[in-house]
Amino acid sequence: MPTSIVTTLGTTTLKSSDSILPAGRMLNYHAYAIDVDGKHIGTCFMMNITAESGELAIELGDKAYWGKGYGTAAVRALVDHWLSNGLKRIWLKVLPWNARAIRCYEKCGFTTMGRLILDGIEFLVMDVTGK
Ligand SMILES: CC(C)(COP(=O)(O)OP(=O)(O)OC[C@H]1O[C@@H](n2cnc3c(N)ncnc32)[C@H](O)[C@@H]1OP(=O)(O)O)[C@@H](O)C(=O)NCCC(=O)NCCS
Repeated sequence: MPTSIVTTLGTTTLKSSDSILPAGRMLNYHAYAIDVDGKHIGTCFMMNITAESGELAIELGDKAYWGKGYGTAAVRALVDHWLSNGLKRIWLKVLPWNARAIRCYEKCGFTTMGRLILDGIEFLVMDVTGK
């Protein structure tokens, strides 16, 4: 990855598919560690990768590192990398009350394109496309 804070953790290529995968499943994923000054602070994923799109997910496990720009840096790195290397669209699910995450995604170019209800829980669906 072309960034200092995101490094490849692991990958799987269970199945390649151009079809729309059921939301919530995690196929064809790449996992990345988010490290700051040698400390592992979180993980992010590009998952459910098809020929054209992928689903992004991120979690900074240590709350002490929230709100310092690290999430935005990691999401930007993943978006830049994957939109430059084959994907046309990256999407994600986020809970509507998660203002910090939504702001982080907006700063990385994501806009809300719809809503999804999974197991009775409502999510916003956001996406970003390549130029
Ligand atoms: C969501 C997450 C990845 C964001 O990363 P982060 O490093 O904390 O976020 P950043 O510091 O890069 O950006 C956060 C932005 O939200 C803003 N923000 C914080 N709290 C906010 C609130 N309650 N309302 C509105 N904006 C808020 C910050 O001011 C900042 O925006 P700014 O740069 O314009 O000031 C991280 O907080 C996290 O992992 N949280 C727990 C797990 C999670 O929610 N994962 C996402 C699931 S979809």
